Amino acid sequence: MKIDKVLYSRDEIEAKVKELADRISVDYKEKELVAVGVLKGAFVFVSDLARKLSIPAMVDFIAASSYGDSVVSSGHVLLGKKPAVDVKGKDVLIVEDIIDTGETLKEIIEEFLKDKPASLKICVLLDKRERRKVEVALDYIGFVIPNVFVAGYGIDWAERFRNLPDIVSLCEE
Ligand code: PRP
Repeated sequence: MKIDKVLYSRDEIEAKVKELADRISVDYKEKELVAVGVLKGAFVFVSDLARKLSIPAMVDFIAASSYGDSVVSSGHVLLGKKPAVDVKGKDVLIVEDIIDTGETLKEIIEEFLKDKPASLKICVLLDKRERRKVEVALDYIGFVIPNVFVAGYGIDWAERFRNLPDIVSLCEE
């Protein structure tokens, strides 16, 4: 696959991340926020979002990935690294780069609920909702995107393109 065109420029992403961070800062003013990024794709989004918050926050990561080929989610989710922070009684915000079928977030939500957080909300930068197979309630959404292959800003295709500052669509070579 190769880059087709820029879907969201770094400036558009920055403005959207600021908008989300402002909303989160208001909503979590009196709470004990733990922002949990889902590796690997969310590493860029979490780092930008966390630095734009105007409230104290803990930042942690978990690892999750679906196996199978790299463009079609297999529906089997591998949960790797667990959070280091004890989330019991804390206000957890899961931060994802993209939701597609919803399988990954569904699994993650089920795992976190076992640890009894005070609250659990979801923030995604990209929502490819046409592809949803399981219902997941999203609290903060950056952009709703069409069913195209995207990469950049942490998101890969076969581990490539994660370091692009813009979000691009991909097409066949
Ligand atoms: C991507 C993305 C989500 C998941 C979304 O991760 O970061 O975690 O797919 O797809 P779903 O809604 O169909 O479950 P991926 O498995 O590509 O791993 P990565 O974050 O390490 O790139």
